Amino acid sequence: MSNQIINHYMPHEAVILERIQEGPHLFTLRMKFTDPDIQGSYVFEPGQFNMLYLYGVGDVPISIVNDPLDSHIIDHTIRVVGRVTRGIDKLKAGDRIGLRGPYGRGWPMQQSSGKDVVIVTGGLGCAPVVSVINYIEQRREEFGRLNIVQGVKHTADLIWKERYDKWRNLPNTKVLLAADVGEALWPWHVGPVTSLFDQLMFNPDNVAVMMCGPEGMMRVVCRHMLDKGVPESQLFLSMERNMQCAIGHCGHCQYGSKFICKDGPVFSYDKVRKLFQTKGF
Ligand SMILES: Cc1cc2nc3c(=O)[nH]c(=O)nc-3n(C[C@H](O)[C@H](O)[C@H](O)COP(=O)(O)OP(=O)(O)OC[C@H]3O[C@@H](n4cnc5c(N)ncnc54)[C@H](O)[C@@H]3O)c2cc1C
Ligand code: FES
Repeated sequence: MSNQIINHYMPHEAVILERIQEGPHLFTLRMKFTDPDIQGSYVFEPGQFNMLYLYGVGDVPISIVNDPLDSHIIDHTIRVVGRVTRGIDKLKAGDRIGLRGPYGRGWPMQQSSGKDVVIVTGGLGCAPVVSVINYIEQRREEFGRLNIVQGVKHTADLIWKERYDKWRNLPNTKVLLAADVGEALWPWHVGPVTSLFDQLMFNPDNVAVMMCGPEGMMRVVCRHMLDKGVPESQLFLSMERNMQCAIGHCGHCQYGSKFICKDGPVFSYDKVRKLFQTKGF
């Protein structure tokens, strides 16, 4: 699939078709470009992102969560954290927003065909990997065993409980949930996500491990997977930094010699090992 940038800097108008409240500060916007030609030529890959421009306020990078087969619509799940996302939170169906993209390098879906897949996410819902799960769900027979591991700090932080229940019913799929701090009635594991790793179903010689979440968590997961014999080249991380241009020009997202917007946001561990091991880089 080609990685087609519609326009480098110029946002195009998109209309919001639907707004879904996912949790207290988390919502999904389903949108499409108002120009049918632009929408018709828009293609993306799981793990890529768009820049969403709230007119008069600013723009933010947000991952695309739907499957490339559903490219007639564009879904974004957004957490309200600051100035721009607070403004976007006020939009409703029928409102307009500026959109440019898709940008970046996404997950290695084609190279992972035929392999077991382990997805590890931490924190409050992890939009970048939802696209991977959607992708595998639509092409289930092309992949081996699927493992979805989600860790949260507190049991109350778990969102999308129904989605985990749905994913649990996919063929050849294991879903494991863990909370650092448990409460009565939490039916899943209490402890770090890595304490669930003995339950995973994968062949270390034929697996792709895809991670997103806090970098500290991803470091621990990488160490565990390397100890289990998974090659560095099969560990994939989705990185986040503040962004402006999204095309490798402004330097806001610089990560050593790389730009997260252009060379990432998904990197294989062997490409960023040194930087990734240095905290605070
Ligand atoms: C490639 C990529 C994909 C992303 N995908 C999603 C997504 O699907 N859904 C989603 O909700 N968010 C996503 N983000 C994060 C999102 O871009 C930021 O939350 C957003 O830019 C914050 O803008 P703001 O103006 O609302 O907050 P600001 O007022 O800019 O900042 C509020 C707080 O968030 C911090 N912050 C700002 N930007 C980032 C960032 N990129 N990473 C970490 N901390 C940041 C600031 O330091 C500050 O503490 C993604 C980021 C990247 C780089
Ligand atoms: S956001 Fe400008 S270089 Fe990456």
